[in-house]
Amino acid sequence: MEEANKTQHTCNWLKGKLTLFKVQGFWNIPEFQNFENIHESHKAHPSDILLCSFLKTGTTWLKALSFAIVTRQNFDQSSSPLLKFVPHACIPLLEKDFHQIKQKHTTSDFPLIASHLPYSLLPESVISSNCKIVYIYRNIKDVMVSYYEFVRVYNVSVEDAPFEVMFDEFCEGIMACGPYWDHILEYWKASQERPERFLFLKYEDMKWDTEGGVVENIIKLCSFENLKNLQVNKSGKHRADVFPIENRLYFRKAEDGDWENYFTEEMKEKIDNLIDQKLVQRASHF
Ligand code: A3P
Repeated sequence: MEEANKTQHTCNWLKGKLTLFKVQGFWNIPEFQNFENIHESHKAHPSDILLCSFLKTGTTWLKALSFAIVTRQNFDQSSSPLLKFVPHACIPLLEKDFHQIKQKHTTSDFPLIASHLPYSLLPESVISSNCKIVYIYRNIKDVMVSYYEFVRVYNVSVEDAPFEVMFDEFCEGIMACGPYWDHILEYWKASQERPERFLFLKYEDMKWDTEGGVVENIIKLCSFENLKNLQVNKSGKHRADVFPIENRLYFRKAEDGDWENYFTEEMKEKIDNLIDQKLVQRASHF
């Protein structure tokens, strides 16, 4: 990446404890910027299934469901690795798990890889291959609240992190992987050009009840209540070697509309207008 393309921003709402870097129009955390390794470790295969998402849009759930589906012939709901490991530990992350991804290409036919990268920063081999991409998205207001609570816990107390300050930065597009609307738009545009490669899922829609055998068991295994109450997700940690994240933080509330407890009427109007301008109107031109 060229130095000239980068700008950095130290987040005001976190009292300067997080610095984001801008790469080709998207803000990113320093840990996810090793593009040389990302591109070098992953050579896409047509049978790959890439699970792509912005932060806090239901990634954990999508990973659990995909893992349970792909491994359904090896495990059932009483033997699944999901009972012992947080879903993030079951699927390699493109921008982080270089070694695992390299190995995957030579030693297994496990098809799942996850990524928070924007579409335009994915390795060229992904863009040009026929691998499948599943993209999950969620109501932006609930994403904001979920992100606020998740990132804040590591850095500052609630009193020190007024929601309004985070809100303003988010509206400027400044958050890890942001702007959210551009993240969605890029994947959406790509899906319009090659629809056969993409599955778009809406977090809120996935909560509808489904019944029937294997599917029902998978849904039960991956339900918020079940995963949240597993010992590994109550007390375990993920990425303990580099940046330990308590698994319980991936399972906060999972309530649609929790944003109403955080937003003022003015914030609601601002974000509705922003989404109309930055997403709805632009998407209508594809
Ligand atoms: P809340 O913070 O609103 O509770 P991500 O996995 O992309 O980090 O997104 C996290 C959000 O997904 C959190 O939302 C979390 O509670 C919710 N979540 C985690 N596991 C879930 C599951 N099995 N079913 C539904 N929602 C889930």
